[in-house]
Amino acid sequence: TALDITLTINGQRRALKVTPWTTLLDLLREKLDLTGTKKGCDHGQCGACTVLVNGTRVNACLTLAVMKDGAEITTVEGLAGLGDRGGSNALHPIQEAFIEHDAFQCGYCTPGQLCSSVGLMNEGHAHSREEIREAMSGNLCRCGAYTNIVDAIEDVMQ
Ligand code: FES
Repeated sequence: TALDITLTINGQRRALKVTPWTTLLDLLREKLDLTGTKKGCDHGQCGACTVLVNGTRVNACLTLAVMKDGAEITTVEGLAGLGDRGGSNALHPIQEAFIEHDAFQCGYCTPGQLCSSVGLMNEGHAHSREEIREAMSGNLCRCGAYTNIVDAIEDVMQ
C-alpha cells in the first residue's frame, strides 16, 4: 500500500507516494536520485546517511519517510546556497572550510559529515574542540580525517 506524503526537499515541494516501510534514505537515493546521501551501515551506526529534517540532523536510514510528512529536508545537494536563498549557488561556508582544511580523504562520509556539521551549527552548543568532537561522534570516517574535520568545523563556528 502506498501512502501520499509531501516533503520539501532542498527547497522544492514534492508530492510523493511511499510504502510505509520506505526509509528516508531509500526514498532520497532510489526514488529521487539524490545519491549524495550515502548508505554506509544502514543501521544507524556510521552517520554517512545524515540529512537535515527541519534543520535537525537525523540518520536517514533509521527514519521512515512517512514519519516526516510535511517536513523540510536538506541533503548535501541542497547545502550550496543554503545561507543565501537569493539564488546564489555559492558553497556553504562549511563546504569551503572542508576544502580549505582537507577535511576528507576518500569522501564517502563527507556528505554526512557536512550535514551533521550544519545541524551542529543550528544547535549552536559546541564551542570547544572537545564539544565538537563529542557532537560529531556519530559520524565515522574510516580514513581517520577527524582532526581536519574538527579544524574545519571550528573555523566556521568561531
Ligand atoms: Fe545510516 Fe550508517 S547508513 S547510520
